Amino acid sequence: MIVCKSAAEVEKLRQCGRLVREILEELRSRVRPGVTTLELEKYTAKRLAELGARPAFKGYRGYPCCLCTSVNDEIIHGIPSERRLQEGDIVGLDLGVIVEGFYGDSAITVPVGGISEDAQKLLQVSEEALDLAIEKAHLGNRLGDISARIQGHVEENGFSVVREFVGHGIGRELHEEPQIPNYGQAGRGSLLKEGMVLAIETMVNSGGSALQIKEDRWTAVTTDGKLSAHFEHMVAITRNGPDVLTAL
Ligand code: MF3
Ligand code: CO
Repeated sequence: MIVCKSAAEVEKLRQCGRLVREILEELRSRVRPGVTTLELEKYTAKRLAELGARPAFKGYRGYPCCLCTSVNDEIIHGIPSERRLQEGDIVGLDLGVIVEGFYGDSAITVPVGGISEDAQKLLQVSEEALDLAIEKAHLGNRLGDISARIQGHVEENGFSVVREFVGHGIGRELHEEPQIPNYGQAGRGSLLKEGMVLAIETMVNSGGSALQIKEDRWTAVTTDGKLSAHFEHMVAITRNGPDVLTAL
């Protein structure tokens, strides 16, 4: 069952979404060669405490940190460590929070110093795919319209979408129905209704879509070792069109 939210609940989720985005933007400005992903985790934990929010991921199915940091061929769920970011890397930053029983969840992928043209194109296409998918998040459309837009834009640009992980509804739970795949057919799936809040996530590989889970049992990496990027926004379906709750 898809839980639709009241206007008051959407405002609670906006508070969560903005808080996540604020911290992600602070992290973006701290990403540079030589920084460890654990330093980004520690900064995140400090900011969550200061802002009165709880981490949503820490302890979720045993995940050990507040933040996911996925470097280069790591698609999602990279665990912060002593790994030092290097010039030319890309790093996905994914953060979830809980404030007053409501969840916020958002992700960005950012360059570390100067990056290759191929990497720049991957980041651009992945973020564009998310923005184009959000434009489809309006009354009268179906979930498949969102999924198909992501897949279409990614594949037109010669990249591939991840199939094993999906976006999701969000509210008083981190993962609610519906699931939102990065692939699908326009005109299929559930009708979008007022009050639905969707965490749409683009997970885009520069090579093939195949992935593996590393020995840490969390980190998803591309099988071919090529780069992957991840962007995520929370969007409410309203009579006035898509309302991005993770915008600043
Ligand atoms: N944004 C991801 C998701 O919604 C992050 C989950 S990390 C986990 O599934 F640790 F919570 F699993
Ligand atoms: Co999510």
